[in-house]
Amino acid sequence: MLAGAGSGKTRVITQKIVYMVENLSIPVNRILAITFTNKAAQEMKERVVEALHLDHQPQWITTFHSLSAKILRIEAENLGYSRDFVVYDEEDSKKLIKDVLKEMNLDSESYKPEKIRNVISQIKQNLDESVLDFYAFTMPHLPKIYENYN
Ligand SMILES: Nc1ncnc2c1ncn2[C@@H]1O[C@H](COP(=O)(O)OP(=O)(O)O)[C@@H](O)[C@H]1O
Ligand SMILES: [Mg+2]
Repeated sequence: MLAGAGSGKTRVITQKIVYMVENLSIPVNRILAITFTNKAAQEMKERVVEALHLDHQPQWITTFHSLSAKILRIEAENLGYSRDFVVYDEEDSKKLIKDVLKEMNLDSESYKPEKIRNVISQIKQNLDESVLDFYAFTMPHLPKIYENYN
C-alpha cells in the first residue's frame, strides 16, 4: 500500500484484517501484516486489537525485521544455528572488529574498522568470500580477521 501520509493506508489495511476475521472467519493469528517501522506496526496492531476487542496482541502484525528474526529463531536449528542468537547492530559489529584487530595486534590505520565492516557485510550479503582475494595485498590478514569475527 503506497500513498501519501494521512491518506488512509493504515485504515485500509486494518479494515481489511477486520473484514477477514469477522466475515471470512480467518483466525487473526493466521494473518500476516508487515510494515517498516515499529511505530507503524504498533499502530496497526492497536487498531486491530481495538476493532476486534482482542485480549492479546496479534503476533503476526509486525515489522519486516521482527518477522525475519522470528522466522530465523523458529528455523535456526535447521540451519545449524542456535535459536538464542543475537542480532548485532552497527555499533556491536564495529566493537567486535576493533576487539579482533586488537587481539591480532593489527593497527587500525592499515586495517580500518569501517572498511572491514564493509567487506564483511559484502561477504554476508552475497554469501561469497571471493572479495577477500581483492584485498590480498593491502590487507593480507583479512581472511583471518573474518574468521575470528565469525
Ligand atoms: N476512508 C476514511 N474514512 C474516514 N476516516 C478515514 C478514512 N481513511 C482514513 N481516515 C482517518 O484519517 C486518519 C489517517 O488515516 P491513516 O490510515 O492513519 O493514514 P496513513 O496510514 O495513510 O497515514 C486516521 O485518523 C483515519 O482514521
Ligand atoms: Mg499509517
